[in-house]
Amino acid sequence: MVRVLFVCLGNICRSPMAEAVFRDLVKSEQLEEKIQIDSCGTGDWHLGEPPHSGTKSILDQQGISYDGMQSRLLRSDDYKQFDYMVAMDQNNFSALTRSNNHEGTVIVKLMEFVEDIEEDDIPDPYYTGDFDQTYRLVSEGCHGLLQFLKEKHYLD
Ligand code: 4NP
Repeated sequence: MVRVLFVCLGNICRSPMAEAVFRDLVKSEQLEEKIQIDSCGTGDWHLGEPPHSGTKSILDQQGISYDGMQSRLLRSDDYKQFDYMVAMDQNNFSALTRSNNHEGTVIVKLMEFVEDIEEDDIPDPYYTGDFDQTYRLVSEGCHGLLQFLKEKHYLD
């Protein structure tokens, strides 16, 4: 089992979008038994809330489920529970690597899995209002991440 945690700031816009998109992709490749997926935030403003209306709207347009998803905070035991922590931007990445107990957990940014693209970070639509742009990048990142995991862990 490969365990993947998507991480952003509020856990209502980008990381729930990534969780839902990645879950959908993993399901379409029938890898649900081999890849475990969750998301969380490094900030606590929206705990227990469902995804932001902008994230829900784009997922609805794409026919991707976000059923039952609720914002939660990063926990110290997540470092034991997950093999990969996938940050949406440099701030999330820095927050994750600040902990001194992350040995054994791979901490990466989602955009590392997209080639030929200028962005290193996924812009935060909570501030930009551009959920379409965020969706495009999240989707590309999730495709790249799944390809990487399939090759690295011989999943098929
Ligand atoms: P997210 O966006 O990190 O993509 O979920 C944000 C959501 C809420 C806030 C910041 C970013 N906030 O400050 O409440």
